[in-house]
Amino acid sequence: MKVLGIDIGGTGIKGAVVDTKRGVLKSDRLRILTPHPATPDAVADVVARIATHFEWDGPVGTAFPGVVRDGTVHTAANLDPAWVGQSATDAFAAATGASVVTCINDADAAGEAEAAFGAAKGVGGVVLVVTLGTGIGSALLVDGRLVPNTELGHLSLHGDDAEHYAAESVRETQALSWEDWAARVNEYLHLVEDLFWPDRFVLGGGVSKQADKFIPLLDVRTPVVPAELRNKAGMVGAAEVARRTAAEGHNHDGRLRRRR
Ligand code: BGC
Repeated sequence: MKVLGIDIGGTGIKGAVVDTKRGVLKSDRLRILTPHPATPDAVADVVARIATHFEWDGPVGTAFPGVVRDGTVHTAANLDPAWVGQSATDAFAAATGASVVTCINDADAAGEAEAAFGAAKGVGGVVLVVTLGTGIGSALLVDGRLVPNTELGHLSLHGDDAEHYAAESVRETQALSWEDWAARVNEYLHLVEDLFWPDRFVLGGGVSKQADKFIPLLDVRTPVVPAELRNKAGMVGAAEVARRTAAEGHNHDGRLRRRR
């Protein structure tokens, strides 16, 4: 099935048509800068522009950089706080006119994609997918099944949110060398592994394209591999979740569309 996957980030909003059977993009990727302020209306407007660009009237899967339960946003650390309490699925369904619209946390979407098609496929035990971008996201997989909304980027490190110390955006804004930034990521992963004892870390986010510059510098006890879907994981995972929802015959609000 083809699904429009949209990954909403603190910096950019990316969309592409995804072939959910193989977990690959079937179109070019369209990236639009995240509006400031990133209010619900402004972000929904970008989502609508992406759907229009692809002349899309099928299912839409979205990934959002905050806690999302049943389509409703509960936190939005790197977007406008007006999102809190809003239904993202209602907003995006209204903006696109699509009848199947899903929304889950962005790191969880990356985790779903890596579990279905990438570095966590067929891997048993506990896998932690950590996305390094504007913030730090986490997806906890147990025997391939997601435990949603783990939010491990907000663990405290040196008295502040870990994402303010070790996210990819911090490497850029503070112009850290790869060595200095890798040392920070290393400290963060030590903290996480001491709490969760995962069998594998999968490191994702845009920086996973440059995995060879920092993964060899890490000395955590847990094996670390780069995300295989790189920065496509959010779009692919979001699309995969919408595919499942469409296959189950649910509307964006979770109500059954047809009897099975
Ligand atoms: C948010 C997470 C998100 C992560 C990556 C954090 O600030 O709280 O929900 O997954 O950034 O975007």
